[in-house]
Parts: sequence; C-alpha cells; structure tokens
Amino acid sequence: MAIRAIVLAAGKGTRMKSAMPKVLHRLAGKPLLGHVLDTVSSLGPASMTVVIGHGSDQVKDTITHTVNWAMQTEQLGTGHAVQQALDGIEDNDTVLITYGDVPLTRAATFQALLDVTNKDQLGLLSLIVDDPHGYGRIKRVDGAVTGVVEQKDANEEELAINEINAGVLAVNGGALKAHLSAIDNNNAQGEYYLTDIFELAVKAGQTIQTVHPDDAWEAEGINSREQLAELERVYQHTRAAELMAAGVTVRDPARLDVRGSLTTGTDNEIDVNCVFIGECSLGNNVSIGPNCVISDSHIGNGSVVLANCVLENAHLEANCNIGPFARLRPGSNLSAGAKIGNFVETKNADIGEGSKVNHLSYVGDSVVGRNVNVGAGTITANYDGANKHKTVIADRASIGSNSVLVAPVTVNEGATVGAGSTISKDVPPEMLTFTRAQRKDISGWKRPVKKKKS
Ligand code: UD1
Ligand code: CA
Repeated sequence: MAIRAIVLAAGKGTRMKSAMPKVLHRLAGKPLLGHVLDTVSSLGPASMTVVIGHGSDQVKDTITHTVNWAMQTEQLGTGHAVQQALDGIEDNDTVLITYGDVPLTRAATFQALLDVTNKDQLGLLSLIVDDPHGYGRIKRVDGAVTGVVEQKDANEEELAINEINAGVLAVNGGALKAHLSAIDNNNAQGEYYLTDIFELAVKAGQTIQTVHPDDAWEAEGINSREQLAELERVYQHTRAAELMAAGVTVRDPARLDVRGSLTTGTDNEIDVNCVFIGECSLGNNVSIGPNCVISDSHIGNGSVVLANCVLENAHLEANCNIGPFARLRPGSNLSAGAKIGNFVETKNADIGEGSKVNHLSYVGDSVVGRNVNVGAGTITANYDGANKHKTVIADRASIGSNSVLVAPVTVNEGATVGAGSTISKDVPPEMLTFTRAQRKDISGWKRPVKKKKS
C-alpha cells in the first residue's frame, strides 16, 4: 500500500509571457515545481511522477529531485495528463495528484487527503471562496459530493456554487485506473477532465471526502507574474512569522526575504530589506543592519553586521563586526572579535582573533593572524595574471595604509610595514619595513599658467 505522487506540469503558462516553462519560475529562489516536490517528498512516497510537456527539456535539466518523467506531448486535459503517469501504479496504492504550479500546499494538507483515502473513499481538496469564477464547482446532494463540474460546463445553478475544486486529490490506484479508462472529452472544452472521475466514483459506490486547507493560499495556483509576486509575499510573511516566533526581532516582516533555510538562535535582530539565500545560520544576539544580502553563511553570537553588506559563504565566529558596505566573498572566515570595515573585500581569507581590516582594502587568498591591523587601502596582490598566490600576515603585524603585499609573501610576527610600501619579499618579525621613493623638494618651481586666447 504505497503512496505514489503524480504532479501535473505539462501546461504552457501562456499568461506568464515567458520562454521558460511556468513551473520553473522561482518563488523564494526555488522553482515552483521544486516547492511541490520538496513537500510531496516529505510524505515519503514510493515514487513521484511529473507529467511534462511544454519546455520539458528545460524542466528535466533544472529539477534535481528523483522523479519519473512522463511526457504529455499534447495537452488534452488533466485526465489525459494523469493517464500518461499510470506506469507502476498498483491497485492498492494510494495516489496523490497535484499541480506543479500550486507551490505552497502544506504537507499536513496532503497527509489529511491521504488519511481519508482508501478503496471506497476519494479525498478531494476543496474550499469555499467569495469568487468561484474559473474553478470547477463541487456538486453535493444532501451534503454528499456527487461530482465536480467545470466552469465552462456549468449551468446557472452550478455556477452559483462557491465550493471549488482546488485540483489536489488522493485516490486508490485501482479506482483511478478504472475511472480514467472511462472518461471522454465530450464537454465544452473538448478535454479529458480528471475531475470526471468523481462522478464515476460515486456511481461505482465510492464516496468523496473533502478536506479543506488551513489557509486558502495553500490551494492557489500561479498563472501570472502578479500571482507569483502575491504568493511570494504570502510565503515570506510566513517565514518572517516563524523567525519572530523563534525569538528574532524582524523590523519589518514585509521587507524580509528568505530564499532557503535560516536557522537562528534568540535575541537576533534583522533590519529592513535583508535577503538570506541558501543555508544561513545565526547564533544568538546577532544584529543585522538594513540592506544586507547574506548567502550560505554563519554569523556567530554577538556579531554585528552593519548596513549594506554582502556575505557569501562566509563564517563569522562570535563578536565580529562587519561593514557598513563590506563584501565577504566565499571562504571568508573570521575568528572571534574580527572586524571588517567599510569598502573592504575579502575572499578565501582567514582573519584571526581581534584582527581589523577597517577601510578600503582587498584581502584575498590570505591567512591573517591574531591582533593584526591592516591599514586603509591595503591590497593583497594575489594574482600574477596566471596563478593565485597566498599572503600570510602573522600575529600582531601592522600594515601601513596604501600598502601592496605582492603574493606569495609573508609578513612575520609583530612586523610593521610602513605606509605606501610595495612588499614583494618576506618581512622579518618585530621590525619596521618600508619601501618608499625618495622625497624631492624643488624650490622655485612654477605651476603652469593658462594661456590667454588671442
Ligand atoms: C483544473 C480543474 C478545476 C480546478 C482547477 C484548480 C480539471 C478539468 N479542472 O482546472 O476543477 O478548479 O484546476 O486550479 O481538472 N495540465 C497538464 N496537462 C493538461 C492540462 C493541464 O499537465 O493536458 C496541468 C497544467 O499544467 C496545470 C494543471 O494541470 O498545472 C491544471 O491545469 P489547468 O488548465 O490550469 O486546469 P483548470 O482548467 O484551471
Ligand atoms: Ca489553473
């Protein structure tokens, strides 16, 4: 008695006005179909089959889940689509059917449908709406569902019904196969309607059990970019609510975007317009200023990220201080109490405990020890035009402003590099080292004067 999932995703999505298939458009950084497959796979199905048609190669190339692909070359209707996905379905399996463009259905809602489904009962996700226009209507007699009628086939009385078919259902495998073999396309749209199986099931003595989602947006599909934007906000609002419930102060839940996972301790604060991408984590008492973009990074206890920072694959231990306007590129690892100031770029750099790179510097392919001070405008020249080389700056070293450290090079412990130096050989420990052109003072020199036009 396995669970088998079928996800319909062959449609074109004309209203998206896009060369990309609709189900690949992204919500919170993830394709719509990816959301559906993530949720469905959490139910532990024996298989997931995705019915594809329009842009099928693109869909296959983008989606990384383990699924069976079923081709539907011509979109002859939802019933026809499911007919393409029946391979491997056994009579006593329970089949969950949903759409690839309905991204936010909760796992618990799918589970509720599976729970009411057996060989005598079908589960159908329905909801009561103010405006049922466009949806299939749920027909009932004495409370019991007798079928679903599509908008274009409905009579006046049926059009007035405001309980609609969300499009998600669960059905016994044997019943599904039997009923699908009996549907035709004799209707207003000339399509094979999946929804015709409900009337056939009732005729065969089965009953239809409706399940309602906790929130209407769980059943909302995306047909336009406007609907995509609306559902994105719904999704982000739920993410912000989760963070606040976990002890994070979110300055404005309407101005936060989480595109991936964000694990967090307590007493963190996130200011407006921050975007978290991929897998991010925060310790406790972390403060993040406005307009930060943080991807695949960890920010340790008590650290402060000031406004307008961009972090990618960075790891900050406790009490670090970043920004404003700092860019931490992949492999930036900051030990406790490190400080990266404004207009500083780091990449593949270990910054030791208590060390500071406060202004306008580039530190790349570098290992910086403890309590080092890197002066304003210091550049680690790591690239010789062909290969990258490493810079080592040992504990307590101090690099004067506007220095260039030409890698491979080591500045040893306690060394002081004078301002404006170009260092291309290792610097000895505990000394002052500098390179500087001889100063010249020229007396009697006159500035050029502007010639008068004749
Ligand atoms: C369908 C339901 C309707 C329900 C509504 C909910 C039918 C006949 N009608 O209507 O009762 O209220 O969804 O949104 O099922 N698809 C394919 N192949 C096809 C046709 C559709 O893969 O041949 C896919 C589409 O890509 C889409 C989904 O099935 O993801 C639904 O198709 P759509 O045309 O939007 O169905 P509706 O007419 O809106
Ligand atoms: Ca639709």
